[in-house]
Amino acid sequence: MPAVGLGTFQVKEQAGYEAVKAAIKVGYTHIDTASVYRNEAAVGRAIHESNVPRHELFLTTKLAPKDQGAGKAYASLCRSLSELGLDYVDLYLIHWPAASGLKHDDPLNRIRRHESYVELQQGVREGKIKNLGVSNFEIRHLTALLADPAVTHPPSVNQVECHPLYPQIQLREHCRKHGILIQAYSSLGQGKQDLLAHPVVTSTATKRGMTPAQVLLRWALQQGIPVLPKTTNTMRMTENLEALNKELQDEDMHALNGLDESSYRKFAWDPWQVF
Ligand SMILES: NC(=O)c1ccc[n+]([C@@H]2O[C@H](COP(=O)([O-])OP(=O)(O)OC[C@H]3O[C@@H](n4cnc5c(N)ncnc54)[C@H](OP(=O)(O)O)[C@@H]3O)[C@@H](O)[C@H]2O)c1
Repeated sequence: MPAVGLGTFQVKEQAGYEAVKAAIKVGYTHIDTASVYRNEAAVGRAIHESNVPRHELFLTTKLAPKDQGAGKAYASLCRSLSELGLDYVDLYLIHWPAASGLKHDDPLNRIRRHESYVELQQGVREGKIKNLGVSNFEIRHLTALLADPAVTHPPSVNQVECHPLYPQIQLREHCRKHGILIQAYSSLGQGKQDLLAHPVVTSTATKRGMTPAQVLLRWALQQGIPVLPKTTNTMRMTENLEALNKELQDEDMHALNGLDESSYRKFAWDPWQVF
């Protein structure tokens, strides 16, 4: 998986098409979308028109919570492929551990996501999914999934919110032990100043001749965590991709890893209550 991908959350239709086209032009080879982002057709069109050979691109999409369950998950994969105009996706994720219409503490959530996962393994066998994974899964969700005898292809990726204000230390260690790659989303705190303008981030940026966004992306990359910064601005796309060529020193990593836990915060949705 290319270590820096383009996020496309909230980038709909024409904006999605233009963002993906621009990103591929400046050198991105990894695009992250989802059925719930309602931009798969636009992303697919931009990919086709880029004329970059398919095997040089890494495309991720995700199963929507409304499509979880037996008899629905595989059909949703096929719909996504049709929207994208592709024969396969490089990574397919169960977007969220709960199914639509169920309360977070409903035990049916576990049944629905296991049914979905098991059904999606058919997509792996057929070559429609190169890598099957999950997103927003907590340790208990992964433990139950791995213990299910019907799970023959363990998840290769767990895409979760991860940045210095929500570093996910235990989940990262658990995934490392089980050979599951953690992929970070909302690395820039969804553009909010709490993270981009955090004094440790800005002072590190000044010291190393980097931008705050590059510091945050580098923090993840130097710990082996791929990132998916979202932007529709071509200059920021280049800035974010160039994080690949920057370097933080040990003392910077130490400072970023030592932020006051009482200031930790999440910017996206929180799966901790999902059964
Ligand atoms: N699996 C999941 O449940 C899940 C959840 C959330 C996100 N994701 C994925 O991860 C991607 C990234 O996460 P995200 O969209 O939540 O937020 P993000 O990437 O942390 O932040 C995006 C925000 O940062 C701004 N930005 C981008 N580059 C910047 C830069 N160099 N300097 C300053 N600001 C910059 C963008 O503004 P402009 O666009 O105006 O530049 C946008 O407002 C998503 O797009 C999606 O693909 C997955």
